Amino acid sequence: MEKTNHIYPIFDRMMTRTDKEELLGQRGVMIWFTGLSGSGKSTIAMALERELHRQGFLCRILDGDNIRSGINNNLGFSEADRVENIRRIAEVGKLFVDTGIVTLAAFISPSHEIRRMAANIIGEKDFVEVYVSTPIEACEERDVKGLYAKARRGEIKDFTGVSAPFEVPEHPALSLDTSVLSVEESVAKLMEMILPKIRK
Ligand code: ADX
Repeated sequence: MEKTNHIYPIFDRMMTRTDKEELLGQRGVMIWFTGLSGSGKSTIAMALERELHRQGFLCRILDGDNIRSGINNNLGFSEADRVENIRRIAEVGKLFVDTGIVTLAAFISPSHEIRRMAANIIGEKDFVEVYVSTPIEACEERDVKGLYAKARRGEIKDFTGVSAPFEVPEHPALSLDTSVLSVEESVAKLMEMILPKIRK
């Protein structure tokens, strides 16, 4: 695709992130959940959003299936499409973070490179990586969407953990194994980590 020339961003005339954060009385941050399909990323993100909202923080969830049925509905699961999926999500996520919003992203984001790209786009200091480390056996046992069974039967190709790779994060800010922790326990650990970052 040809790059567009003659683009003149007007960021210097816009209100700043600091203005927005003062208005909201909070700091923006990106909490980036990574992990296998069925590991519990969305469930934890939704419970966390509820608790943050209850404590007066404005949040936004960006979630795999929602984004893939909207802005990214032209993308599949090849490596190139997954990169493009995460690139767009990171760009959109940055807009929320720059608006002072506590942003929760729940995507498999299966490789070091993909997550590094997301962190680079969003900005390292605003990017908090949370690994939902639920073992594949537990994800497969749950198989909420029936996708593992399909992948094992060869009806879905390039399925993460079955026929496509997942690289375990090396230094996540937090790891949560939902086969061991309750949703409430995961949320409590997250709140302890996040509150100091988002309080004004
Ligand atoms: S990512 O790899 O590009 O980060 P994303 O989180 O957006 O993936 O989407 C993952 C969701 O898409 C899964 O939870 C599952 O419901 C669905 N899905 C469909 N096909 C695949 C596949 N081949 N691999 C992984 N997930 C798939």
